[in-house]
Amino acid sequence: MGEYKRIGILTSGGDCAGLNAVIRAVVRCANGKYGWEVWGICRSTLGLMSSPPEAIKLEFDKVDHLLTMGGTVLGTTNKGNPFAFPMADGSLRDRSEDIIEGYHQLGLSALIGVGGDGSLAILRKLAQQGGINLVGIPKTIDNDVGSTERSIGFDTAVNIATEALDRLHFTAASHNRVMILEVMGRDAGHIALNAGIAGGANVILIPEIPYTIENVCRKIRNRQAMGKNFSIVIVSEAVCTAEGNPVKNMDRFGECRLGGIGQYLAEEISIASGAETRVTVLGHVQRGGLPSPLDRLLATAFGVAAVDLIAEEKYDRVVTWQNREIVSVPIAEAIGQYRAVDTNDTLVKTARGLGICLGD
Ligand code: F6P
Repeated sequence: MGEYKRIGILTSGGDCAGLNAVIRAVVRCANGKYGWEVWGICRSTLGLMSSPPEAIKLEFDKVDHLLTMGGTVLGTTNKGNPFAFPMADGSLRDRSEDIIEGYHQLGLSALIGVGGDGSLAILRKLAQQGGINLVGIPKTIDNDVGSTERSIGFDTAVNIATEALDRLHFTAASHNRVMILEVMGRDAGHIALNAGIAGGANVILIPEIPYTIENVCRKIRNRQAMGKNFSIVIVSEAVCTAEGNPVKNMDRFGECRLGGIGQYLAEEISIASGAETRVTVLGHVQRGGLPSPLDRLLATAFGVAAVDLIAEEKYDRVVTWQNREIVSVPIAEAIGQYRAVDTNDTLVKTARGLGICLGD
């Protein structure tokens, strides 16, 4: 069974469906297979930054309900880089040593960090600086972490966006409208592309493929000429305006958020084609709710594989999904390559083959 270990797990960055399923898998495997202790760190690195560190002991018989639960029972944060942490007086301070101190105070032999590329990069830097034995698990609805075909949370987000398209079809057809669905995904168009094909969209706009309003309107007019007086458009939040500007809003904390390209397109399409348009912005609904069966499977397989890596004392690695196998790769390799939609991807070809307009 090897040496006794006390390991920690934290969830970091934006939440998504499947995080609790990972926590359950880690606890069951670490407790059951290896007889180790597992500590759940609260609110990502903020829990380690606190003095004393905020953590809870997780036990085999108390995690069963986590398989189907959305969000993360440990809490998370997608703000406050610990190397330039915003303090109450408005200054920025390097809090990395506080976090490292928290890890060692808990007496951990290893840490599992569940995060997207940004969180994994921060955790790796902390690990290198403070001798933390880190194993990463990729999660993000954006599915943009390098080296892995799938990240936890993506499939659930695609299911939710697909269901939204299914619902929009009926109301679009009843009113002869162009319905625009704006989805998340940051700079990657995976959610829009996958849900767009699965949900029968007529137009799919993603940041990786430049579009023109004229091309979109041509598709709408062609459909009208075929007697189809409604159209469904799905657009990724990072698609730019015709002038090439991202649509963003600044919040009162000075943070920029993508959002609003759907409304922009609705107005432009309406002016250029005369069609009546309506917009739905799906927002954080894509991150909530029950994880899909595929996300539960992925989360469970990743959780077990991460614990096995710790048993082999293989650190500074992240578990990935490649050709239906779990493969571990160096964290630096995964975060070193941003995974946007490849314009030669099978699904791009599939969309083109179906006659879906990609805007180009
Ligand atoms: O990275 C996940 C994500 O949901 C993006 O798709 C989206 O742009 C962003 O996070 C939203 O962040 P917040 O939760 O801070 O609004």
